[in-house]
Amino acid sequence: MSDFVNGFWPWYVGVVSIISVLACGLLLYLAGKATVVAHDGQSADRKNDDTTGHVWDGNLREYNNPLPRWWLWLFILTIVFALVYLAIFPGLGSYKGLLKWSTQDEHQQDLTQLRSEVAPLYAAFAAQSVEVLTKDKRALTAGERLFMNNCSQCHGSDGGGSKGFPNLTNANAAWLGERGGEHIVRTITNGRIGMMPPMGAAIGSEADISDVANYVLSLSGSPHNEIKAFSGKAKFSACAACHGVDGKGNKAVGAPNLTDNYWLHGWGEAAIVSAIKNGKNNVMPAQSPKLSAEQIHVVAAYVLSMSPGAVAGSTAATPKGP
Ligand code: HEC
Ligand code: HEC
Repeated sequence: MSDFVNGFWPWYVGVVSIISVLACGLLLYLAGKATVVAHDGQSADRKNDDTTGHVWDGNLREYNNPLPRWWLWLFILTIVFALVYLAIFPGLGSYKGLLKWSTQDEHQQDLTQLRSEVAPLYAAFAAQSVEVLTKDKRALTAGERLFMNNCSQCHGSDGGGSKGFPNLTNANAAWLGERGGEHIVRTITNGRIGMMPPMGAAIGSEADISDVANYVLSLSGSPHNEIKAFSGKAKFSACAACHGVDGKGNKAVGAPNLTDNYWLHGWGEAAIVSAIKNGKNNVMPAQSPKLSAEQIHVVAAYVLSMSPGAVAGSTAATPKGP
């Protein structure tokens, strides 16, 4: 649609549409005027038998009849219909039509109607906490539908996530933020930004960075080089402000737990070295006002129901491996 911001294209579309319709009328007029001339020199016959003079296989002749009336009228009606349609509906570039009808308005009306129909149901859901709704089958069915339509393209249809998009079926400890209903509602409403500044300069040389990466790997018991990890431990203090002295993360700043063997941005030394050098800027777009507050409440319950121990603040840790 952005192409139509350019003033040329609306005119182009409008002129081409009008010319096409008029050309159909012209074709009809000319076809009515035209007389057929045979190419085989047998034109003398035509005066006697109404044929064009074309002969195939010795005796097959072509009649020279006018278009049937009904067909002609259908053609004229089609042209009139096209002109009336173009006058009242948007079909000529940016001209909005006499009715000012638009798919967007129609969609908005449908949406308003739909929302008013389900409003009583959602009002009942809104009166209960997200945690309570995780036990309500109807709320979960509605929440699943909302999730499929609005969240699955990033978080996966099973909520399993992918590189850069968090797995929402993780246990509490592996979440970037808090796993409670209130926090989930806030995340969906406002979106969130996971920001880690590039730390290469603070750590030092390539070797130093590799040492720290190996220390990080050692925190989760992942395969690593013991000597490098030992040398990297002291440098990890630069990371501790966000990821904690023990590397267990800090949900308030969204710094992930580095000890749980769940890797949002990929596993292994190379991925960690890249995180240190380039930092991270991971954005989830706000889902409000695309979703109403009531809808967010319901989809939050569905999200909470996907992870083990569906009770706020659970610390059950069953992290997913790489
Ligand atoms: C355009 C992609 C995108 C869409 C659409 C999206 N998300 Fe997200 N979501 C993300 C990203 C990226 C993050 C991680 C942000 C970060 O690193 O802080 C995230 C984080 C989250 C978190 C926090 C997870 C944690 O570990 O703390 C929740 C909860 C969440 N999303 C739920 C949803 C729900 C529910 C929807 C649909 C209503 C949704 N998201 C739609 C990309 C998306
Ligand atoms: C200012 C706070 C901050 C500092 C300092 C910081 N980080 Fe991070 N780090 C974050 C945040 C926030 C994220 C999550 C980004 C996201 O949401 O995608 C992150 C993500 C990561 C990841 C990706 C984790 C995964 O699951 O894939 C690694 C690895 C990492 N940091 C290592 C380090 C190391 C090593 C240092 C020190 C050299 C460090 N960080 C310093 C805030 C920080």
